Amino acid sequence: MSMPVTAKLPFGGDYNPEQWPEEVWESDYRLFDAARIDTVTLGVFDWALTQPASDMYDFSLLDRIVDRATAAGRNICLATGTGAYPAWLARAFPEVNRTDFEGRRHRFGQRHNACPSSPVFRRLSTELARRVARRYARSPSVVAWHVGNEYGGACYCSRCAEGFREWLRAKYTTLDALNAAWYTTFWSHTFTGFDEIDPPSALTEHWRGPDHTAFQGITLDYLRFMSDAMLTNFRDEKAAIRESSPDIPVTTNFMGMYRPIDYHRWAPHLDFVSWDNYPPDDTSQARMALTHDLMRGLKDGQPFWLMEQTPSHTACRDVNPLKRPGVMRLWSWQAVAHGADAVLFFQLRASRGACEKYHGAVIGHAGRSDTRVFGEVAELGAELDRLGDAVLGARTPARVALLFDWDSWWALEISDGPSRLVRYQQVVLAYHRALWDAGVDVNVVAVTADLSGYSVVIAPALHLLKGDIAARLEEVAARGGSVVATFLSGRVDADDNAFGMDVPGPLGPLMGVRVDEWDAREPEFVNPVLLRAGAAETEVAARLLFELVIPQGAEVVGTYQTDFYAGTPAVTRNPFGAGAGWYVAAGLDQAGVSWVMRQVLDSHDLVGPYPDVPDLETAVRVTPAGTRLLFLLNHRAEPVEVTARGGGVDLLTGNRVDPGRPIRLDPRGVMVLREDA
Ligand code: GLA
Ligand code: ZN
Repeated sequence: MSMPVTAKLPFGGDYNPEQWPEEVWESDYRLFDAARIDTVTLGVFDWALTQPASDMYDFSLLDRIVDRATAAGRNICLATGTGAYPAWLARAFPEVNRTDFEGRRHRFGQRHNACPSSPVFRRLSTELARRVARRYARSPSVVAWHVGNEYGGACYCSRCAEGFREWLRAKYTTLDALNAAWYTTFWSHTFTGFDEIDPPSALTEHWRGPDHTAFQGITLDYLRFMSDAMLTNFRDEKAAIRESSPDIPVTTNFMGMYRPIDYHRWAPHLDFVSWDNYPPDDTSQARMALTHDLMRGLKDGQPFWLMEQTPSHTACRDVNPLKRPGVMRLWSWQAVAHGADAVLFFQLRASRGACEKYHGAVIGHAGRSDTRVFGEVAELGAELDRLGDAVLGARTPARVALLFDWDSWWALEISDGPSRLVRYQQVVLAYHRALWDAGVDVNVVAVTADLSGYSVVIAPALHLLKGDIAARLEEVAARGGSVVATFLSGRVDADDNAFGMDVPGPLGPLMGVRVDEWDAREPEFVNPVLLRAGAAETEVAARLLFELVIPQGAEVVGTYQTDFYAGTPAVTRNPFGAGAGWYVAAGLDQAGVSWVMRQVLDSHDLVGPYPDVPDLETAVRVTPAGTRLLFLLNHRAEPVEVTARGGGVDLLTGNRVDPGRPIRLDPRGVMVLREDA
């Protein structure tokens, strides 16, 4: 089982009619018709409604909500409703409330805050999921199950401590193995009983917050344990759903590049991936592209659902900018271009009270259909109707892979030294940005992914090496591919202990370099790097981190220009088998990263159709029948004109495009070109 079965790409979003009188529902559905909204996500925060007391379940209102949607012929994505637990539950069983990093047991309030190890929470959330599924599994309109909501955060209570100890026993079996992994001889930390181990928190190993730990080993394992503990909650509910619903796919909404949860460990347990896209600002297009690629990569390139996005603005930020005209449409198409097989909003109608009353919605408090936002949603709905099933199931034909690794992210950012200023996402973003600018399709994948189909594999800040990844990267190069690694890669093993060998550890033979020393500086400090390709030279800036490279067979591509290591290599290329290993030893600016990546892409003839048109994004999906769809997305507020490279038909207008003829995209314009066979 994989994706929900739908006739066309689902369009709609979170809908909470339990918050307003039933008369309003009728006008909601009239507006849904007008906007061609065919999918509603129901019941995400209904626990207090469906189980008003420990011994009482009441589905009468949810029945009416589901019946209304079914009568209107809508697809339903039905939530189990466990994203927020009721007040009576917190009162009767304080253990469901989390204990925070400072050791404070919380009381009832907010949401997404159940202790994942609480037996009461596990029992009651599972029971609710069981009852919801049993009641609605035969409804013809339910196309997907939505478990919980945006799993995340962490708990440090005594039950989590006990769960952690069990997790450790299962992982290490013996204390000797644990002591070795955590390097406990340092600072007299040798554990002589599992019961001596507490969660790493402000009361134990940490100072200045969750990233400052005396022992990386215990902190890294606690991050893994917490991610697994919440996964257990998801799996409990999914198993309960399966008792009565064998065929309807189950998901939970992810949050993109969200550090606390290792989505690679979760993804095999979801039938399909869905995620909520709330970019920080309106210059986030490259970042969103990366996140979509990451989400698509979680299940081997299978399409995902865009479960939430705001039609207009958020409410949770200090400053909540409005999406400019055309931006909601453009970003929706961007999601589709990168693999989304659904476009859903948070939310269809605005709440009148509480902290999201000013959050954007398709229908505002006044219930009007003549607003700009409603109009743009309705236009997009009509466009998606015309598109029908044309993209459903289509895959991204990428020959470039970028490795994304939660363990490396965690290990890098909980490390003391070399620099707190090097942030994993920033490094990954820079390398992905270079690919995005070049218009090349990329799969963002786990280090365990099959790399045999890729010509180029990029490993930005792959700090922690586990399994056979080094050997598999060597295979990529041996058969003619290019592998790119950066500073702070190959530093530690799966336990976060340094390799007893030259940096970059097991990547050394492939990179053909050795790093004996490294320098970290404040962000103002720039060491220029001179890059050379044949006779062409270009100078770029390097910041934050500077590794001193001693070539062990690699050719020098770029050199530092100042300081005592002026003239030594900052970028190298090592011929390896029929391919090469590229090593970027410093925090190059975007121009530098893009220069290096362009050399690599050019050597495989992999640049997209319009690489040098700023902010003109291209992406390809190939349908199950083999049809190529080329998406062109103009992220500029000005029109853009390019010359068609191939012929085809724009699925949004029906217009023909002929090779060599101009293609004109409006400001923030979109084209979905079905290329001629
Ligand atoms: C998240 C949640 C929603 C809502 C939105 C608001 O994505 O899943 O319930 O709070 O944020 O942006
Ligand atoms: Zn807990």
